[in-house]
Formats: sequence, C-alpha cells, structure tokens
Amino acid sequence: MTVNSELEAAWKYHSATNHSYASVHNNLHFLDWANRPLPFKAYTALEPLALPREARQTGVAALSAIAESIRTDSSAIPDLEALAQLLYLTAGITRHRKYPSGDIHFRAAACTGALYEVELYVVCGNLVDLEAGVYHFSPAEFALRRLRAGDYRSVLSEATASETSVIHAPLTIICTCTYWRNAWKYQARTYRHFGWDNGTLLANMLAVATALGMPAKVICGFQDADVNRLLDVDPDREVAFSLVALGHFAALAQQLPSEISAIDLESVPLSRNETVYPAMHEIHAASSLRSAEEVETWRGNTPVNELPPPTNPIVPLRSYSDAEMPRDPIEQVILRRGSARKFAQVPIELPQLSTMLDRATRGIPADFLDPQGTQLNDLYLIVNAVEGLEPGAYAYHRDGHVLECLKPGNFRAQAGHLGLDQQLPAEAAADIFFLANLQMILERFGNRGYRAVQLEAGILSGKLYLGAYAQHVSATGLTFYDDEVIRFFSPHAHGKSVTMLVAVGKNAKSPF
Ligand SMILES: Cc1cc2nc3c(=O)[nH]c(=O)nc-3n(C[C@H](O)[C@H](O)[C@H](O)COP(=O)(O)O)c2cc1C
Repeated sequence: MTVNSELEAAWKYHSATNHSYASVHNNLHFLDWANRPLPFKAYTALEPLALPREARQTGVAALSAIAESIRTDSSAIPDLEALAQLLYLTAGITRHRKYPSGDIHFRAAACTGALYEVELYVVCGNLVDLEAGVYHFSPAEFALRRLRAGDYRSVLSEATASETSVIHAPLTIICTCTYWRNAWKYQARTYRHFGWDNGTLLANMLAVATALGMPAKVICGFQDADVNRLLDVDPDREVAFSLVALGHFAALAQQLPSEISAIDLESVPLSRNETVYPAMHEIHAASSLRSAEEVETWRGNTPVNELPPPTNPIVPLRSYSDAEMPRDPIEQVILRRGSARKFAQVPIELPQLSTMLDRATRGIPADFLDPQGTQLNDLYLIVNAVEGLEPGAYAYHRDGHVLECLKPGNFRAQAGHLGLDQQLPAEAAADIFFLANLQMILERFGNRGYRAVQLEAGILSGKLYLGAYAQHVSATGLTFYDDEVIRFFSPHAHGKSVTMLVAVGKNAKSPF
C-alpha cells in the first residue's frame, strides 16, 4: 500500500474545493492588492543569458499542429533557436496592458486570473549554442538563467524510472507550479488550476514541437522529490507538475553521479506575506511518487473510457478536410489568441465546431495515455447557437464523431448559471464541459490520477482555444458550479465529475 493509493485524499480535496452557489457566495475572501504576488520568479544572483528573438516561421497550419504529433523515435535535436521559439510560444509575453490595479503581462497561453503560476525549466545535454545544464526560463527578460552546469539528464531518467522518451531526449522542459501566485486569488482550488494552467501551456508546447518536427511527450509520472531537488525549488512553495521530453537522440543520456547537491539559490519573495492552504499540500503529498518501482507501475495501462452507445438522437459532425480547413500557421494563431471577454450572440458554423472538437481530441502523447489516443475526459456541450444544430445539451462521441442530443432546448440562462453566473457562457455559441469518471481514474492511477485528469483537461482546453482561433472563432476558459453541472447533464453524466469548461463563439469585438 502506497500513499498514492489511499484515495480518500483525492476525494477529500475534490469535495473540499467544489464550487456551489453557497460556497462561492459565503466566501469572504477578497483580493488584497497591496499583497499581490509578483508574476515572475526573479533570482537575485544569476546572470541572464538572452534568448534569440528572431525565430523562423514554421508555416505549419495550427489545425494540423494541434492534431498531430511526431513519432517518438524520429531523430530531432533542438537548437537554441528552436528552444527559444518553444519557450516564447508556450509561456512568453505576447501582450501588455495597463490597469488601475497594475500592469498585466499577458502570456501565450490562457491562465486563470492571468496569474501565471507555471514556471518553466530546461534540463539539457550540450546543444548547438547552449551548454549542458539546468536552466530557468525568465519570460520577463526572455532569457535563461543557468542554475546548474553540466548534463543532469540522467537524474530525470532515474526520476522517471527510465521512461524511454526521457532517456533519449536531448532536452526536457519541466513545468513547476507556484502555490501562492494563484492561491492569492483562488485559495485552495488552486491545485485544480495547476492542471488547467499547466495544460493550456502544454497544448501550445505540443503544437509548436509538432510544427518544428520534434517529438514531444508529456510525463506526469516521476519521483517528485528528485525533480524538485534538481530544480532547487522550495517544495512548500513551488512543485514540479509535469515534464515534457523533447526531441530524440539515439544515444542514451550520460550517467552522472546522481547525488544532487543543494544550491540554495535566492529569489525575490512574491509578496509581503503568503497564506498557506493546507488542503493543497495534502493532496500534493498524497499524490507524490516515492520510488522507481512506483513510477514504473504508475504509467501506461490507461483504463478504457468509452461512452455508452447513444440511446438518444444523434447528429453527425462534419469537419473541414485538410484541403478545406483554414491554414493559419500555429505561430500566428498563438499570437492572435486572447480570451473572449464578451461574445456576440451570433451563430458559428457546424463545420467550425466539428473541426475544433475533432482536431482537439485526436490524442495527446502522455505517459498516462496508453495507447496514445485514449482520453480520460469526456466532452459534453451546451449548444446555444450553431448553424444546423438544434440548441440543447449534447454528449460528444469521439469514436463516431457524432453528438448525442441529451435534451433539446434553449439553455443559455442555465449555461450562464452553471459557469459561475457569468455572462460569457450564456452569450457563447457553445459551452464545452469536460467530465471524467474520477473513481475509475483514481482506481488505476491513485491520487496522482487527479493531477493527470486535470492536466489532460487543461491540454484539451488549450487545443480547443487554438482550434477556435485558427478559424477566427474566440474562446475562453471558465470555472463552474461542480455538482450542478453534473445534475444538468444527468442521467447521462451520473457518477462523473467536472474538470473544466471552455466557451466558444464569435467575439463581440469582431463578430464576422
Ligand atoms: C482554466 C481557466 C479558467 C478560466 N476561468 C475564467 C472565468 O471563470 N471567467 C473569466 O472571465 N475568464 C476566465 N478565464 C480566462 C482568463 O482570465 C484568461 O486566460 C487570463 O486573463 C489571461 O488572458 P488571455 O487568455 O486573454 O491571454 C479562464 C482561463 C482558464 C485557462
């Protein structure tokens, strides 16, 4: 029996952070602007190493890049320019706005509250123009800082119990999440946001890697303590959440002494004071993996997740073919993306909705999705205004690419309510909810399945964002009243839990 297999921890966290009308309206939390956390991690002592800003354009259509991945054994070694492009289009600053409460540096991927709690680190062998080392990415300066010199990839091989993609990767990007930077606003629910915000960012990273012809694989199974020690993060504040093995090189990573010395690098405090929400530290500890054996048995063997065959009327979806689809390149689409703040109440077309659903769900290369193409989350929709589709509630059957109509009707008002009484889901053309059978996932993956299912929801949402903007449709992530969403989609959704919500539609600012 391992700590990870004691599933009460995940259930406890999940129910403690459920949103209900009462829990949201009785919450006395307010935003203490004077104590607002810094949006960037700033080391006090290390010199920045500027990244090249002029990147080649791949020209690869975003709708292809989000749908495809490069075979894991295709030889590819990124150079500094490719790394810079990946980092910029994943977590770089793409827009800057001044507000009375302070400036916001908007980033390439959507993030709850624009609080950007995800930091990126690079662990690499010698690359063209970049020496082997462990680096932190600073989006503010568009630079790397070297935390350790030398080839530390073998530490990741050990931490992932010799995961094949990691062993052969010239470089691995590690995503960490910083509790306080997001919990300042969202309190204990932040641990769910870790998965979502890390996920939207990974959707960009995977798409750009594909456009660059580079294999990429998301790794969720690793020995937490080893990875955190390598990055020299204080695990009470910041924790590794996912790894992405990038590129492929036939020779195995060199073996180094795996003793990792402490380096105790100082960084500027995020705020005057930080509030600790113990529920998050509990679920993190309970979902941590502590030995190579545990990691090895953790990955793969994804439970079979299929919707029951439709018993209600179905509507076949028709996606654009490769020849018909808009071919806006991935770089352009990422830079164009920005969450809709108001939707025009005009319809989108059925092929637009079909294409984004289809392209976003063609499979994610991840260690918890085996074989690639399996998916933990199911998609349920409230359709408000899609030409050729009756308004109503639907379940999306990926296998047959059909929507099953669970109930017809105008549900704009309910959609607004379910999306935390916001206007956006009421105005949207369609609201796409991610629902998952948590029991089944936790039984297979233990508490760490909770990280995986939230991360997958974030990745799928990020792909939907890109799939929408590639077609000049807008999108926004949204949060929701958990149990009410399940009730709305029941009996079909009985026994499931909501993980995320994305609204899509025409932007009120530029509806046509
Ligand atoms: C998981 C997730 C949930 C979100 N929830 C909401 C929400 O409930 N309401 C809202 O107005 N925006 C929501 N957003 C949008 C963020 O506020 C937005 O991504 C952030 O301000 C950054 O701006 P950008 O997406 O335009 O770059 C959400 C985004 C994500 C990724």
